[in-house]
Amino acid sequence: MKKTIRDLNNLKGKRVLLRCDFNVPLDNYGDILDDTRIAAEIPTIKYLVGQGAKVILCSHLGRPKSSYDKYLSLFPVAVYLMKVFPNKVKFSRTPAGKEAENEVAKMKEGEILLLENVRFLEGEERNNPKVVQELCRLADIFVNDAFGVCHRQHASTYGVAIKLPNAIGFLVEKELSVFENAFKTPKHPFVAIFGGAKVDDKINLINNVMDKADTIIIGGGMAYTFLQAQGKKVGRSIVSLDKVDDAQRILQTAKEKGIKILLPVDHVALLGTKVVKTKSLDGNMIGFDIGNASIKLFTKEILNARQVMWNGPVGKYEDSRFKKGTMKIAKAVAKADAYSIVGGGDSVSAIKVSGFADRIGHLSTGGGASLKLMEGKSLPAVDIIDNK
Ligand code: 3PG
Repeated sequence: MKKTIRDLNNLKGKRVLLRCDFNVPLDNYGDILDDTRIAAEIPTIKYLVGQGAKVILCSHLGRPKSSYDKYLSLFPVAVYLMKVFPNKVKFSRTPAGKEAENEVAKMKEGEILLLENVRFLEGEERNNPKVVQELCRLADIFVNDAFGVCHRQHASTYGVAIKLPNAIGFLVEKELSVFENAFKTPKHPFVAIFGGAKVDDKINLINNVMDKADTIIIGGGMAYTFLQAQGKKVGRSIVSLDKVDDAQRILQTAKEKGIKILLPVDHVALLGTKVVKTKSLDGNMIGFDIGNASIKLFTKEILNARQVMWNGPVGKYEDSRFKKGTMKIAKAVAKADAYSIVGGGDSVSAIKVSGFADRIGHLSTGGGASLKLMEGKSLPAVDIIDNK
């Protein structure tokens, strides 16, 4: 069991470096388009403030090239936090160094300082010892609550944890426990839904879930590789030729183990510039969404489930012509009398677009990180945290 912030005693007056994942979408005016990740961090910040700690928030935003980029400044997040914690929040225009150290030195108990984007520091993503040292100079204790970036071994997620007394925050604790429970003590029938454009990074995922799930539904671009493995027509749809054998093995193993794998039985496709509904992807057709019969088939299975895990849209939902399948699956997941977990950036956005987000058991704040947990892998930035 990892140490959590509840295990940290005497936080009063201590400088706590809290690694958050404030990697949120911004528009061209710096307005926050989706505040889920910030809102999810508030309980941990509130707790530390309540304990009288000096709370130093550290995060990345986007992928800057190790130098200042005005479009990737965390200032909009500071403005957001100022509204949640009036008169308590300050912003440091640098993520580390003299200016940040001066700001920290001025902090009083229960105050919050948001550091500028940590990826502006050269070496952050390489876990450079100089960056680790600079960050450590700002704090007495390190708390990792940046679930979305726990699969990264960076200075601010990994390096500082080696040097400072440490713990995980409430968000990381919750995310870990949701995925652990889902796999250790799944509720049956357990239906796993996988989609997304490419099958390449999903093979491990399916292999891991195979031992636990009763039914695996496969949609999205990845379904065409499986259909090809079954000898079905796929037209000119996206297929990872080097994964057809893997797909065949998965289908075979599922058969042997009595696990149901459901693939689309009809499609919405493009033929030239024309959108067609078809059972068979003939000739030059390119499949982009599941059809009505597939929606019906998948929905029936989902509504029967007691636990649902969903990663990846079942069609190119960002294009209104191919949105229906994903929206209907979102509705089914929301309506099912089941504990539902949705992980992965695209499926979480799809659920939000569908308007059913508030009816989901757990919407993960992690893209790559939740994928790793679904694959049954551990996260380096969590592994490095002290045990209780
Ligand atoms: C995410 O959005 O998945 C996390 O914030 C991690 O971002 P990264 O892929 O740029 O490390």
